[in-house]
Amino acid sequence: MLKTPYWTASGYIPVYEKDSESRVSKTRKMRLVAFLKTGPTAHHHGMWRHPETDNDFLDPAWYEHVARVLEKGKFDCLFFADTLGLFDNYRGSFDAILKGGGQMGFLDPLPVLAVMARVTEHIGLGATMSTTFHNPYQIARTLGTLDHLSKGRMAWNVVSSISNLEARNFGQDELPPRNVRYDRADEVMEACFRLWESWEPGALIVDKKSGVFADPSKVHYVDYAGKWIKTRGPLTVPRSPQGHPVIMQAGASDRGREFAARWSEMIFTLQYSKPDMQAFYADIKGRVAKAGRAPEDCNVLPSVDPIIGETESIAREKQAYINEMVDPEVALALVSTHIGVDLSKYRLDQPLENIEVEAGARGSFEVILQGTKSQGLTLGEAAKRFATSELCPQIVGTPESVADQLQDYFESRACDGFILTPTVFPGTWEQFARAVVPELQRRGLFRTEYTGRTLREHLHD
Ligand SMILES: Cc1cc2nc3c(=O)[nH]c(=O)nc-3n(C[C@H](O)[C@H](O)[C@H](O)COP(=O)(O)O)c2cc1C
Repeated sequence: MLKTPYWTASGYIPVYEKDSESRVSKTRKMRLVAFLKTGPTAHHHGMWRHPETDNDFLDPAWYEHVARVLEKGKFDCLFFADTLGLFDNYRGSFDAILKGGGQMGFLDPLPVLAVMARVTEHIGLGATMSTTFHNPYQIARTLGTLDHLSKGRMAWNVVSSISNLEARNFGQDELPPRNVRYDRADEVMEACFRLWESWEPGALIVDKKSGVFADPSKVHYVDYAGKWIKTRGPLTVPRSPQGHPVIMQAGASDRGREFAARWSEMIFTLQYSKPDMQAFYADIKGRVAKAGRAPEDCNVLPSVDPIIGETESIAREKQAYINEMVDPEVALALVSTHIGVDLSKYRLDQPLENIEVEAGARGSFEVILQGTKSQGLTLGEAAKRFATSELCPQIVGTPESVADQLQDYFESRACDGFILTPTVFPGTWEQFARAVVPELQRRGLFRTEYTGRTLREHLHD
């Protein structure tokens, strides 16, 4: 629950109702978050071609089913990653990516989340919204509304966006440089928090007898004026159950990590190995403490793809089978989008090198470079790995050995939990909820029941 926030020399710091001592003394529980797209691929671009994948992503029932499955698995949250345009910078067109099924998000995730909220009661629901292209009044109003409709289960995956093709859909020729995007993002956050607080608790009365609908003395103008953002407020939306959505973030650069340390309650990260995860984890926890927050209030969640089989060898066969379904052209088109460079101009059989990339995409490129350098992959191989798991670990095995591997990462302080991505839809979710979750529960690593009502309460249970 949000307590009175405060301003410091470095700006606004949100403060949560908590009892740190009692929380620290409790057994540490793993956090599980499901990565979704409004389309039948997630990180794995062969997923839509798998014989068992259901590709009916235009049907509300598709979303209702997965929300129910994940809630049955007691997941903390599901969320939709998102981009704001059709990818078209490989060979100067969207042909390769559309033909091969590389575009991932099709529908607007916000109305989809309202559909999922109606068929669930506990699971958190995350939306991606860009601080570069969306206006804070619109963001605060939409997410405040969804926090009401879900009764306090919304998360906001705050992104500053990655590509010029998105900028062109919003009246800009180019994405602003990273530092400008993050400075603006700080202002968007400050403005949104002020708007969410523009209605004090108890301002909405709705008393037919006295004829008082709301108490105007508890609703305030915010008069926020920064370098990029101006908003007067108040919001039209009364204070929502969580006060504000749970903040989630994914920037990988130094500036992105600073931003996350200030605002984030969940960090989505792409790391390739346990040592990489441990280094990132220690770095973020240090930054969060330096920002004046409790390190346990920020959950570090690396992405992994579970591939589950009845035996180890069946699981390995499933992994080889699904990884073969990625179209090499789609892989190149996908990486071209992420780094803003048309890779059709480069030789595929050469090692991935340090190349000049679009201003907004340096962080993404370094992620790819870091992940491939140690293995000496060629450009073609690196692209294919990126299109299977974005170079993150595929956790392969029986339910017990998948649980062993997750437990090892968790107990080695490599993470606080995981962003799980599917390779078969909705099969991965059904198998994980049915077979791996009970194994994690048996080991006391994961909740057996939801104890809280809101997403923020789940993250603190
Ligand atoms: C793991 C990860 C996931 C991301 N997901 C999205 C996304 O769904 N939509 C989006 O527009 N940007 C996304 N981004 C881009 C970031 O919001 C950010 O704009 C970009 O990474 C540049 O910042 P950085 O240099 O600090 O990484 C993601 C970045 C990372 C590292």
